[in-house]
Amino acid sequence: MPKFLVTGAAGFIGSTLTAQLLADEANAVIGLDRLSDYYDVRIKRARLEALASSRFTFVESDLSVSNIATLLHGVAGVFHLAGQPGVRPSWGDSFLTYVSDNVVATQRLLEAIAAADAPPRLIYSSSSSIYGDAEKYPVSESDLPRPISPYGVTKLAGEHLCSLYASKRGIETVSLRYFTVFGAGQRPDMAFTRLMVKMLSGEEFFVNGDGSQIRDFTHVTDIVSANLAAYYTAGASGRVFNVSGGSSVSLLEAIRITEELAGVDARLTHLPGALGDVARTGGASDDALDVLSWKPRVDLPTGLTEQLAWVAANLPELRRAINN
Ligand SMILES: NC(=O)c1ccc[n+]([C@@H]2O[C@H](COP(=O)([O-])OP(=O)(O)OC[C@H]3O[C@@H](n4cnc5c(N)ncnc54)[C@H](O)[C@@H]3O)[C@@H](O)[C@H]2O)c1
Repeated sequence: MPKFLVTGAAGFIGSTLTAQLLADEANAVIGLDRLSDYYDVRIKRARLEALASSRFTFVESDLSVSNIATLLHGVAGVFHLAGQPGVRPSWGDSFLTYVSDNVVATQRLLEAIAAADAPPRLIYSSSSSIYGDAEKYPVSESDLPRPISPYGVTKLAGEHLCSLYASKRGIETVSLRYFTVFGAGQRPDMAFTRLMVKMLSGEEFFVNGDGSQIRDFTHVTDIVSANLAAYYTAGASGRVFNVSGGSSVSLLEAIRITEELAGVDARLTHLPGALGDVARTGGASDDALDVLSWKPRVDLPTGLTEQLAWVAANLPELRRAINN
C-alpha cells in the first residue's frame, strides 16, 4: 500500500489533498500538522474528523522541532503543505513565525528526506507572492522573483532550499507556485469565504483598497491535481511550475459575480490598501501543461457556486471563526 506524508494536513489545501489521496483505497496517509492558531483551530479539528479512516494517521507535531526521520519510514512521497500563510500579518514581530514555519520547517524536512534510506520525492507548496509586482503578465517561471512581502520572501527561501537539496543532495523535489486558491474549505481569513459569510449574514465586507487588484484564482481541486501530477511525472523532478487558474479578474468583478450567484448585494466598505498586497497576479502555466499535462479544470463561476453552497452549509462555524 503506497504511503504518503502530507504536512499541513489539517489546513485548507492539505486536508483537500489528503481526502483525494484517501479516496483511492490503495493509499495510506500520515497527516502532520502543528494545529497553529492562525485561524480557529476548531475548523482544523473538524477537517481531521472528516478524514478519519483506518488508512489515515494524524500526528500533531511542529516540523521545525520534531523528529521527522521516523515518520518517513516506508513513505513513497511527501506533499509539503505546512506553512504560515498570509501576506499582511507577515510584517513585524510575527515574522519569526513565518521564518520558523516556512523556512526552518522546510529545511528540516529536506534534511530528513536526504538522510532517508529511500528518499521520497517532495512536492513543495510555493506561492505567486514570490513574484511581487512583476514587469509583465502573465508571469513565467523564468521571470525574476522579487517578493514585496515578508511572507513572499519566506516562501521563496523555501523554494530555493528545495532546488538546493535537489541539486546538491540528490533528492527529488518539485515546487508548485499556487495562485490565490479558492473553493469549498477555503480559509476563513481569505477574501471569498469572508465575503460570502458577510453577504449571507447581511453584514459589511471590508475591501482592502479600491478593489481593482487583479487575481488569478485557482480552484483547490486543480491544486490537488497539480500535486498528484508533480508526484507521478518522472520528468518533473528538480522543476518549478506555476499553478494558475487562468482567470484575470479584479476583486470587484469577483464580488459582482458572487452577488449574482447568491442573489444578494454585498455591503462594501473600502479600507486603505494593505502593505505587501500586489496589484496583480497572473501566471502562465504552459510549463505545467507541457511537462505535467496539467491544466485548470474549474472556472471561477463554477468554483464560486460550489464555495457559496459550502459557506451556506457551514455558516455558524464560519461566522464564529471570522468574528473570533
Ligand atoms: N491558500 C492559498 O491561496 C495559497 C497560495 C499560495 C501558496 N499557499 C501555500 O499552500 C500551503 C497551504 O496553504 P493553506 O491555504 O492550506 O493554509 P492553512 O493555514 O489552511 O494550512 C497550513 C497548515 O500548516 C500547519 N503548519 C504551519 N506550520 C507548521 C509547522 N511548523 N509544522 C507543522 N504544521 C504546520 C498549520 O497548522 C496549518 O494547518 C501553505 O504553505 C501556503 O503558503 C497557499
